[in-house]
Amino acid sequence: MPRLISAALLAIGLTLVNGSASNSHGAIKKPGHSAETRQPNFVFIMTDDQDLHLHSLDYMPKLQRHIGDEGTVFERHFCTIAVCCPSRVSLMTGKLAHNTNVTDVYPPYGGYPKFIAEGHNDNYLPIWLQDAGYNTYYTGKFLNAHSTSNYNNPYPKGWNGTNFLLDPSTYSYWNSTFQHNHDKPVVSDGYSTDLISRHALDFIEEAHASDRPFFLGITPIAPHAKTAEVEGSSIPAFTDPVPAPRHANKFPNARIPRGGNFNPDTQSGASWILNLPQLNASEVTYMDGYYRHRIQSLQAVDDLVESVVKKLEDYGLLDNTYIFYTSDNGYHAGQHRMVPGKGCPYEEDINIPMIGRKVDFVTSHTDIAATLFDLAGIPLREDFDGTPMPLTASEMRGAKSDPRREHVSVEYWGTNLQEGDIGRVSPTGAGVVYYNNTYKAMRVIGDSYNLFYSVWCTDEHELYDLTNDPYQMRNLINTKKTLLGRDIKKVISRLDALLLVLKSCKGSDCTLPWQVLHPNKKVTSLSEALSSKYDKFYAAQPDISFSACELGYLPGSEGPQEGYAYRRGGDWSYWA
Ligand SMILES: *[C@@H]1O[C@H](CO)[C@@H](O)[C@H](O)[C@H]1NC(C)=O
Ligand SMILES: *[C@@H]1O[C@H](CO)[C@@H](O)[C@H](O)[C@H]1NC(C)=O
Ligand SMILES: *[C@@H]1O[C@H](CO)[C@@H](O)[C@H](O)[C@H]1NC(C)=O
Ligand SMILES: *[C@@H]1O[C@H](CO)[C@@H](O)[C@H](O)[C@H]1NC(C)=O
Ligand SMILES: *[C@@H]1O[C@H](CO)[C@@H](O)[C@H](O)[C@H]1NC(C)=O
Repeated sequence: MPRLISAALLAIGLTLVNGSASNSHGAIKKPGHSAETRQPNFVFIMTDDQDLHLHSLDYMPKLQRHIGDEGTVFERHFCTIAVCCPSRVSLMTGKLAHNTNVTDVYPPYGGYPKFIAEGHNDNYLPIWLQDAGYNTYYTGKFLNAHSTSNYNNPYPKGWNGTNFLLDPSTYSYWNSTFQHNHDKPVVSDGYSTDLISRHALDFIEEAHASDRPFFLGITPIAPHAKTAEVEGSSIPAFTDPVPAPRHANKFPNARIPRGGNFNPDTQSGASWILNLPQLNASEVTYMDGYYRHRIQSLQAVDDLVESVVKKLEDYGLLDNTYIFYTSDNGYHAGQHRMVPGKGCPYEEDINIPMIGRKVDFVTSHTDIAATLFDLAGIPLREDFDGTPMPLTASEMRGAKSDPRREHVSVEYWGTNLQEGDIGRVSPTGAGVVYYNNTYKAMRVIGDSYNLFYSVWCTDEHELYDLTNDPYQMRNLINTKKTLLGRDIKKVISRLDALLLVLKSCKGSDCTLPWQVLHPNKKVTSLSEALSSKYDKFYAAQPDISFSACELGYLPGSEGPQEGYAYRRGGDWSYWA
């Protein structure tokens, strides 16, 4: 059985469109929740490993026409963990991975069995939506390690209709196994994305026949690598994504964008990344071909998007339906010398698409459940680690100064897998596995700053100033620079304290972390925390650190869990 099928550090692009409700600026008007207004429908399309930074969206004209041009693009939307299954569980529970404890794609730390063991199957999005009067449908990949042997033990709860792709053939593109409602799994005859498109249209028809509002999740596998089991190895072989035959020869000249961090002469980064050799010419040539296969495989998704939008239009459903288009995580190929893959904290793996109107405040996948609740008029749950994304023009204006929109935390546990048949092989013939890929990271974005900060399980730290270094090539951690008008060590002391809160936060502490440090609410942003008045307070905070590189969330190896809170009179004491 394959392990770690998709360890991607996710940067997500998210597009939202609501038919005729969008105004001329592309902002979204929320339907009222008056008695006579029906709750809105949700169509949630999520690809697998689609990037923003490698420009895959530029190759999807139908998506751009039907969604991008109509909707709002959240340019700074992030996944909070860059690997498929944990990211999907965060999305469907509204919780960060350290609060779901589904942190990997396969047991013991992740996958469908861990989702069940942690009790999430009794307490997640489709169940909550059904309780609020929704019909719920889903087709495509659900979670990793959801397979032909455990699909009914138990069935995923909360759905009125499902058609799941099942392991071990989830990523085979052809001859994959689908499992409809409570039927037995069947090996399909056809191209996976086209079959998912057909199932989606069937579910829209079913949903239309009922007078309840509906949620429909559509999760094709493109542009994920094709995988196949390798005998004697728990790690599958990753080869190029497979386009539908009708798209196999498109974009013959496309190649990976050569950004400032593409296969650099001088390496940056931390842990295993710092030690990577430069890619040679044949490896780069191979990766450009791999990239073409990714964008070719996305063409069937582009077709799917158009079919779904047309169907909603035919049924007169478009005006009361929010369409989300996103990916579970981002992707890298060649950046920082990396072979194809995901799972890193850098922008390619964690950040979002940008078509149409741009908004520049921070949103994340952990906000999505809260956003759907807000749109459906359901009271928010206390255990949500996220908060509704601003959708109306006035909410968007307010978001610029909203302390909840300044940061996103990103976490990861375990290993990183090389994808693609690049020629570097492990002794088993499977892809190479990189260890020590456990870290806590965050992005902090305000009017006058755009920072990345990470702490790895190897106790390496990284600090990038993306205003001046958008490709994250100059780690400032050991420099004597001045940053934001302060000695860099003073800035780092604030970032350390912020990350100390975020790495184990729960509920509203995750959206308003400065309030944990400053319960009097006098500090709500990095710029306010930088006041020299707080220098001693931040210098006294415990150092954020790891004592070992674990494969899962074992808090005993993750250093101090608690710091100090600033009290009246300039004194401080523990948070609790
Ligand atoms: C997370 O799950 C792992 C594996 O079951 C377990 O060992 C660990 O204690 C859990 N962590 C927390 C914080 O509950
Ligand atoms: C969907 O499931 C819910 C919960 O079981 C149920 O109340 C509702 O009637 C179902 N809808 C349809 C159309 O069967
Ligand atoms: C699908 O399965 C059939 C029957 O086993 C086989 O002949 C065919 O080659 C398979 N197609 C692909 C693309 O693997
Ligand atoms: C490039 O690297 C691959 C291994 O990834 C190796 O097989 C190949 O020989 C190298 N090519 C050159 C020209 O060095
Ligand atoms: C992981 O990091 C530790 C601490 O830096 C180091 O001793 C160890 O060799 C690393 N392991 C691997 C497999 O790189």
